[in-house]
Amino acid sequence: MTHKAENNEQEGLFIRLNKHDVQSFIDLVQRQFKSKPTIEYRYKFIKERDFILIPLNRSSMDEIQNYIESNRSLKYEIVSRKVIKNPKFKYKTIEDLLKEERPEWNYKLIPKSYDIIGSIAIIEFPNLDNLSQKEKNLFKEDVAKAVVNVNKSVKSVYEKVSQVKGEYRLRNLQILFGNDDPETVHKENHAIFKLNVKKTYFTPRLVTERKRIANSNICKGELIVDMFAGVGPFSIQIAKKRDVQIYSFDINVDAYKYLKENIFLNNVEKKIFPYNINIKTLLESESQLNILLRGKINRIIMNLPEKSLEFLDVACFLMKKNGGIIHNYQFCSKPKPIELGIKKFSHTLSKYQYQIEKVIHANIVKSYSPLMDLISLDVKIIAK
Ligand SMILES: C[S@@+](CC[C@H](N)C(=O)[O-])C[C@H]1O[C@@H](n2cnc3c(N)ncnc32)[C@H](O)[C@@H]1O
Repeated sequence: MTHKAENNEQEGLFIRLNKHDVQSFIDLVQRQFKSKPTIEYRYKFIKERDFILIPLNRSSMDEIQNYIESNRSLKYEIVSRKVIKNPKFKYKTIEDLLKEERPEWNYKLIPKSYDIIGSIAIIEFPNLDNLSQKEKNLFKEDVAKAVVNVNKSVKSVYEKVSQVKGEYRLRNLQILFGNDDPETVHKENHAIFKLNVKKTYFTPRLVTERKRIANSNICKGELIVDMFAGVGPFSIQIAKKRDVQIYSFDINVDAYKYLKENIFLNNVEKKIFPYNINIKTLLESESQLNILLRGKINRIIMNLPEKSLEFLDVACFLMKKNGGIIHNYQFCSKPKPIELGIKKFSHTLSKYQYQIEKVIHANIVKSYSPLMDLISLDVKIIAK
């Protein structure tokens, strides 16, 4: 591409040092100018007879010179040479890379974040309305290539083209770069999850939340229900750490298929019992499962934030009469989402034969939209 050739034509400023002084200079710069841009590692060092020329960032040049002068620590000269790209240099962020490769771009348009699930990156472009279709396509393609360039593990990049929707909580994805193969294997907190990003729900943004729950005060022998298990991230991370039995449900047959496979991949077959049913049906029939679980459960995970409260009837049906813990997720309006979440939980619970004994923990997991947060509540409930 032409812009790469142009970069190699640029003049840059270099500090010329005796080759024996190079390491002392690098050490000095790292010590004195820790967070500042100093050495331009994206360009090659140049060797000229007994001297090495180190490319410097112009913004720190005066400070570096002042420091060396006042300490008389090194003999040096500042010289100008054509810069040569260092092919081994890895940019830390897509923004850094694109600022360099595409200086003509408005980098406010570059997405600030993206998700990485196994070998797949998923990205959203909220601000491209002022670009023509052709410009949009070029922009997205270059951003996708930049994502692959800065993340060694990423092989394919998908664009989010819809919100999460429907009963299975899926979103439409469109391939931007790499193979359109939506199946991948993701590692999280020492567990592995095979999944299909188009057919199953999974977000890496709950990594801390799942670790928190798996490390929480879970007792030996507890019976746990994961009402909306997906491919199993909550169930499996708990089962890997705790001596418990978990009944994991999902209505989506593909999620169930991967849930079963992930139980096997993580060696927790003796602790997790997967079911591909609508959890509501437990209320409808006197099935074996209904009889097995009714009033026996110590802990319930309710990770269906947009309507978890609609399932509190099932939770109360399953929970032990002498109480148990619910890990409840909800989307609640800012600015006081936690207060609102507790109020709504308590109001809905009051319709059933249970009440809140204690709110053990409450936190905002992440911002969901400009108006809503995703919140997490750990609530001890007990029969009235
Ligand atoms: C937000 S996802 C959470 C998945 C998983 N807990 C995770 O952290 O990745 C909600 C899941 O609940 C499932 N689901 C929705 N309604 C359900 C129902 N009535 N019964 C059982 N599963 C349901 C969806 O298929 C989806 O996989």
